[in-house]
Amino acid sequence: MTEQAFPTPELTEQGASAADDLVEILQGLNRSPKALSPKFFYDDRGSRLFERITRLPEYYLTRTELDIMSANVGEIAELIGPQASLIEFGSGSSLKTRILLEHLDRLAAYVPVDISRDHLVAAAEALAAEFPHIEVLPVAADFTQPFDLPQPKIMPLRNIVYFPGSTIGNFSPDATLDLLRVMHHEAKEDGALLIGVDLKKDTASLERAYNDSAGVTAEFNLNLLRRLNREFDATFDVDNFEHRAIYRETPGRVEMHLVSLRAQDVSVGGETIHFDAGETIRTECSHKYTLDEFGAMAGRAGFAVHSVWTDPEELFSVQYCLRV
Ligand code: TRP
Repeated sequence: MTEQAFPTPELTEQGASAADDLVEILQGLNRSPKALSPKFFYDDRGSRLFERITRLPEYYLTRTELDIMSANVGEIAELIGPQASLIEFGSGSSLKTRILLEHLDRLAAYVPVDISRDHLVAAAEALAAEFPHIEVLPVAADFTQPFDLPQPKIMPLRNIVYFPGSTIGNFSPDATLDLLRVMHHEAKEDGALLIGVDLKKDTASLERAYNDSAGVTAEFNLNLLRRLNREFDATFDVDNFEHRAIYRETPGRVEMHLVSLRAQDVSVGGETIHFDAGETIRTECSHKYTLDEFGAMAGRAGFAVHSVWTDPEELFSVQYCLRV
């Protein structure tokens, strides 16, 4: 008999206001310097390209974090204890999530939180089928704002917020502090944060990770322009732009840009946008931390770093932070 205890994940939707994407895009392109939100990367093709990035030899982040999780999941499970609720910020389609779901002791619930409803539901259904004994309670919400947690059938003994992938690095320092404070709120009394944080290292390794030799990251970045052409009535000639990734030691982040190779005018949603030759659109930042820097940031949000696991080369860290 293969009956499921929790057959269909029931979705909670919160504050799903359809923001005016075109207005946001035009604001970004009329700013100086120009910028576009990384949230527009992830259409179908963008999501597939990102999957490929995570398997590139130069992109050490995903495989290193996975190795750290595999090597230390026993200790992590010990610290978390039995009957926790695992609240993942992000939709949780990753192998790292599966490692936790396999090893944590009698989870009360697994709660993936993501703004992208379709991706969330698909990932939640897949995990619910793989882990029929775990109650999966997806929440469609913008996790940068406090949200209400669903009530699992089993009373959780504590909330563990999980935020893998060094996605924390994609937020500005101010936004990082705000987000850690939301996590602090959602962890509740006795809760904790388990987070993947990429570490500072030499410039060449960092730039290679975001500008691979196979050109997948370049295609991922340029796909943003293809998407604007398709969905927002834009006329970008993608051949007139080039991917660039640069690490800036101050403030300690990799920046991804799209560089205009010539002076040109592009129409977006009926508006004309001018580019000078060499002008760039900034599309993503990925902040890197030392262990001390991240510890200080977590401290300002009310967390104390309890345990840190790294790989032998100290490329990446997984950190367990207690709510204080
Ligand atoms: N958070 C990861 C990072 O900063 C994933 C990521 C976001 C990414 N945007 C990216 C990776 C663009 C490669 C290219 O590395």
